[in-house]
Amino acid sequence: MENCSAVLKLLLIITCVHLSSSGRHSLQYLYTAAGRFIAVSLVDEEQVVSYDSKIGKMIPRTEWMKKIEDDDPLYWKSETQHMTDQHERIRVFVHRAKQIFNHTKDHIVLKMYGCELDDDNTTGGYDQYSYDGEDFINLNLTTGTWTADNDKAKSFINDWDPKGTEAKHWKDFLETNCIDQLKKFVSQGRESLERKVVPEVSVLHKHYPSPEVVCHATGFFPKALNITWQKDGEDVHEDVELRETLPNQDESFQKRIILKVPAEELQKHTYTCVVQHSSLEKELVREVPKGGRSAGVRIAIITPVVAALIGLFAGIVVWKNKNSGERRKEADVKFSENRFTLSNS
Ligand SMILES: *[C@@H]1O[C@H](CO)[C@@H](O)[C@H](O)[C@H]1NC(C)=O
Ligand SMILES: *[C@@H]1O[C@H](CO)[C@@H](O)[C@H](O)[C@H]1NC(C)=O
Ligand SMILES: *[C@@H]1O[C@H](CO)[C@@H](O)[C@H](O)[C@H]1NC(C)=O
Repeated sequence: MENCSAVLKLLLIITCVHLSSSGRHSLQYLYTAAGRFIAVSLVDEEQVVSYDSKIGKMIPRTEWMKKIEDDDPLYWKSETQHMTDQHERIRVFVHRAKQIFNHTKDHIVLKMYGCELDDDNTTGGYDQYSYDGEDFINLNLTTGTWTADNDKAKSFINDWDPKGTEAKHWKDFLETNCIDQLKKFVSQGRESLERKVVPEVSVLHKHYPSPEVVCHATGFFPKALNITWQKDGEDVHEDVELRETLPNQDESFQKRIILKVPAEELQKHTYTCVVQHSSLEKELVREVPKGGRSAGVRIAIITPVVAALIGLFAGIVVWKNKNSGERRKEADVKFSENRFTLSNS
């Protein structure tokens, strides 16, 4: 994650591909409040629990998390209570912001916080908020104080947390509870979190609307995977489109890379797709068949869980696109709300 800028860190789930060392683990919480409160927790970037204020229950999203729910009902109860508290905190946050900015309607607040634990026991944490799709405030973990991302945010901090009690609360949480939770999750889910599943790789020709070859890797775990095109053994960077990694229904991932290339080129040169993944002893190489035969490609199956995540991402993308127009923002937020609705089904 150190390869990511602060803003990119917020988008790490969709943008920052880092072949993480097996010894690093992360716990991340994403909250959104736009009237309704939705929370997801991710361990090593995989969704493990979700919470929706409409349902009022935490829903385990992995087998090992289900096991924690079954084995430790008291823990589960206290965590559900924790979510209710979080909802209340966010409600206060939104209420204060509305007063300060003289807004009449609820506006969208996203909160992203979490912690990391390395195999040398070093830890890290962050807590960031956006308001209406713009960076708003973030916690400086060294000083335990809020940093305002703009002038509006400065007056907000003075009003919302004049004594810095919220900041202290979150600094404490990130340095102790968050790390304890992460350790608990890693020990409970180790078998699953540290599993290695080899990608299936296929190469597909497409002629319409423009000639291109698609290299598709699917079914792999963990998420970090490198995929590149080579022409006669040399990396190709032009006319290449690398798609984001998408979750499959079975808790594995898929990723594709597309190369625009005329059919004659494919006859003249050897094009190969090269895949690197922690499950592989050496890189996996697939050559584009000269005859133009295609292999099948599995399409991503968008499950309700995935839909909920896409919704959150949509919200976060809105956050990132803070320079775009207000109208556009509203449209995106609506999109994300629709997705959340989907997640209820
Ligand atoms: C708050 O909004 C109302 C209605 O739009 C307006 O009449 C009022 O002047 C505003 N107050 C401030 C302090 O901006
Ligand atoms: C990390 O902490 C654990 C338990 O707290 C300890 O057993 C282990 O030796 C530590 N590792 C390092 C590299 O300090
Ligand atoms: C946190 O505050 C300290 C002291 O003011 C400063 O040196 C440091 O750069 C800040 N950290 C971040 C991430 O802004």
